[in-house]
Amino acid sequence: MIVSAYVFADGVEFAPEAIGAAAQALRAGSLIGLPTETVYGLGADADNATAVAAIFEAKGRPADHPLIVHVAAFDGGMSGVAHYAGRVPSFAQQLMSAFWPGPLTLILPRREGVGAVAAGGQNTIGLRCPAHPVAQAVLAALRQPTADEPVVWGVAAPSANRFGRISPTTARHVADEFNDRPELLILDGGPCEVGIESTIIDCTRGAPVLLRPGAITSEQVAAACGRKLISPEELELLEAQGQVAPRASGTLESHYAPNATVRLMDAQALQQALDLLGNDVGKSAAPGKTIAIYSRVPLKSSACQIELRRMPSDAAVTAHELFSVLREFDALRVKLIWVETPPDDVAWDGVRDRLQRAAA
Ligand code: TXA
Ligand code: MG
Repeated sequence: MIVSAYVFADGVEFAPEAIGAAAQALRAGSLIGLPTETVYGLGADADNATAVAAIFEAKGRPADHPLIVHVAAFDGGMSGVAHYAGRVPSFAQQLMSAFWPGPLTLILPRREGVGAVAAGGQNTIGLRCPAHPVAQAVLAALRQPTADEPVVWGVAAPSANRFGRISPTTARHVADEFNDRPELLILDGGPCEVGIESTIIDCTRGAPVLLRPGAITSEQVAAACGRKLISPEELELLEAQGQVAPRASGTLESHYAPNATVRLMDAQALQQALDLLGNDVGKSAAPGKTIAIYSRVPLKSSACQIELRRMPSDAAVTAHELFSVLREFDALRVKLIWVETPPDDVAWDGVRDRLQRAAA
């Protein structure tokens, strides 16, 4: 059930009943669909083990894949961090000051006895203070103690998609993913501004380690904390020495996968493939589109069964629309999605990462 989080009367305002209903559902141990600035999350009270277990069940996600816990922003996220995390290294503190609220998740040592199910049993916990005003309104409501209900410190929320599938960036996408659960309350906060999941930095190894690229680049992270990031190669060495890393499930090779087969190609290879195809696909007996192409260069094709779509030249604009575009291609039931390889520039790291996984 999609419920608008806003009222559109004289300007835009929160719908207090919608925010209240979402907070109430979370307090009662139910799941909700929650907008954030990155992607929509499937949320539950992070300290309610039964509710958190229901997230794993709904997503079909293995129970040892940890979830991100979202905390309220009114004190810069600090009280939420103090509730869930043990020792916070000073570079992590600097990253919170620089980027929270915002699309950055920090892996921190977990405080014993809290958030164990959300953390997938690990002794670390992923924390994020989201910037979306609707997410923050819900998180703030949960921190208000009521006469008979305790404070809720955080909302565990992975992306609101079935395990291994594309993350949702609209309320409609969430409803489509969980169409077998019409009772699920989905707060509609509009299309997600960022469009790809948060940057994840592991802060438990003495230096920042990039686990997942996102809108906040590794360069920005390094600059904000004055520390060099540990490279994946150095991380491998640490792992080989027995300091085994908690592996982010988002780092599984195949992930964010549409139904169609995704291939990355440079512009020249794309045009050559199109020229080779000529009109042939147009003569196929099956109606509808067969191949979708997403490229920055303008391409030409006379084949009517090819769907051509221009990729924006800006990385942030591409991130914003990427998952929607992949879902639209899927809705056309194309068999193949050919994508022009994103530029080799740090600003494109997040988009390139998601496309490489979709193609894996
Ligand atoms: O932008 C986002 O991060 C979105 C929105 C909803 O906040 N959430 C999201 O959650 O992408 P999810 O569960 O789809 O991805 C979370 C990633 C996973 O790859 C998980 O393994 C990793 O974060 N993660 C969470 N806690 C961790 C921990 N303690 N140690 C290592 N990785 C962790
Ligand atoms: Mg996910």
